[in-house]
Amino acid sequence: MKRETNHDTIIILDYGSQYSQLIARRLREVNVFCRLYSWRSGEDKVMEHDPKGFILSGGPRSVYDQNASELPRYVLESGLPVLGICYGMQLIVQHFGGRVAASQEREYGPSLLIRNEIENPLFQDWHSGRDLDEELLPEDQVWMSHGDRVEELPRGFMPIAHTRNSPFAAAADVDRHLYCVQFHPEVAHTPKGQKILSNFAYHVCGCRGDWTPAKFIAEQVKFLQEQVGEGRVLLGLSGGVDSSVAAALLNQAVGDQLVCVFVDHGLLRQGEADQVVETFGTEAGFNLIAVKAVEEFMESLRDVTDPEQKRKIIGEQFIRVFEREARKLGRVDYLAQGTIYPDVIESAKEGDSEAHTIKTHHNVGGLPEVMDFELVEPLRLLFKDEVRRLGSELGLPEQIVWRQPFPGPGLAIRCLGEVTWERLERLRSADAIFIDELEKANLLRQGTQQSFAALLPVRSVGVMGDQRTYEEVVALRSVTTDDFMTADWARLPHALLGRVSNRIVNEVAGVNRVVFDITSKPPGTIEWE
Ligand code: XMP
Repeated sequence: MKRETNHDTIIILDYGSQYSQLIARRLREVNVFCRLYSWRSGEDKVMEHDPKGFILSGGPRSVYDQNASELPRYVLESGLPVLGICYGMQLIVQHFGGRVAASQEREYGPSLLIRNEIENPLFQDWHSGRDLDEELLPEDQVWMSHGDRVEELPRGFMPIAHTRNSPFAAAADVDRHLYCVQFHPEVAHTPKGQKILSNFAYHVCGCRGDWTPAKFIAEQVKFLQEQVGEGRVLLGLSGGVDSSVAAALLNQAVGDQLVCVFVDHGLLRQGEADQVVETFGTEAGFNLIAVKAVEEFMESLRDVTDPEQKRKIIGEQFIRVFEREARKLGRVDYLAQGTIYPDVIESAKEGDSEAHTIKTHHNVGGLPEVMDFELVEPLRLLFKDEVRRLGSELGLPEQIVWRQPFPGPGLAIRCLGEVTWERLERLRSADAIFIDELEKANLLRQGTQQSFAALLPVRSVGVMGDQRTYEEVVALRSVTTDDFMTADWARLPHALLGRVSNRIVNEVAGVNRVVFDITSKPPGTIEWE
């Protein structure tokens, strides 16, 4: 099989740590390409990438567990450099005849790392407090999270750093290119951890730092041209970051062979439908079919108030419209999707097979079964932040590149109760005011990860001028989160909330009350439905 990329590659073997993906992201940020595989993955699959080195992640187990995860033989037989992190360190130590024991004291949280006087590439350019008697700087902090600890190093290994509780916080067998750290260099609580990962990749494995958006584009364009040949590619463009960047990349590769179908279902935010048509159609001249299907969608949602029912109807309706357009086109050979790396990663927790999931949230999940397409997924190796960088490099407008996540069923699930055009317009106006004020306060790209308005299915009493009012309630939701699995409510400035509330009540007809949601996830969810 032809390799998708020819970048210098580090393989991260996942032993189930909650931080495994972070190791990959930290490396990619310093322009080193890497792939994450379960430690159980087959040798052929891993070695086909011709790696420059291995990183063994942390994991929840003890090397003494009955079903302990193992260090695959091919890793050491390859003679390539290996860096073991936490559990990964313990695997290496145990394998080479050192001693791992349950610690009296569980070490969890920050520790100060003290480097020993041993030249080694892992701590190259460390630049800060270094000797025992020199004052240590806060940047020397490392994050520990382990029960077992290394009591004795194997022959050939030297301790290269320690902490108060761990005499062997980091160790190396420089001649055999084997390195291990007991702490987690990948987390933000280890301020210089990225330096360690980068030193390993550059100075131990010899990576050249060839993972850049420009190189990725050049390579993918060639790859896509070969994959697609003369074929015709269909892509459902939602206006979200992933499908937009996939479209831009494919357009660069195969131009008019790409047909983008944008379904305007009337459930997007203010100005978004126009922006998609303008950006991709009018300005960039993509082969874009914009389908106006607002009435169809509104009709199918009439009288529906149950959120799951809304999702189901919208999903089915979308497929119906998309399929109709596809059939009109005649021959279509490929279906392109904006699947990204977290959707395809083979994780140690989920077993062995590469979970090749089809993103259902663009609502095209049912299509491949209905029609005979081959899939094209040009972003399947990228993390979200890399997709954004790529989008900028491809010249997409900022509003698209930095768009906050938006659910596939759109405003239908933020318009609680019945979805009517009038209520959608009300919600759109309130949401636009909130977003506008957040943008002005510089809180849209940074400081909050998702912010929106929801329209509640209740009315409350108010007074405006001398008039008693009885109108709808808008709830503002704004969260901070790393992964959208858990989230906290954003501590927005009171002055900002005050401005938003005033503007919504004054400018949006039919709304007389604004509330701010202060529920974290869990127990709440980010969306209201
Ligand atoms: P919750 O509400 O479950 O949302 O905390 C987590 C993230 O997922 C998004 N979300 C959806 N995205 N279709 C989607 O494509 C959906 O039905 C859906 N529901 C929630 C939500 O916006 C948040 O980013």
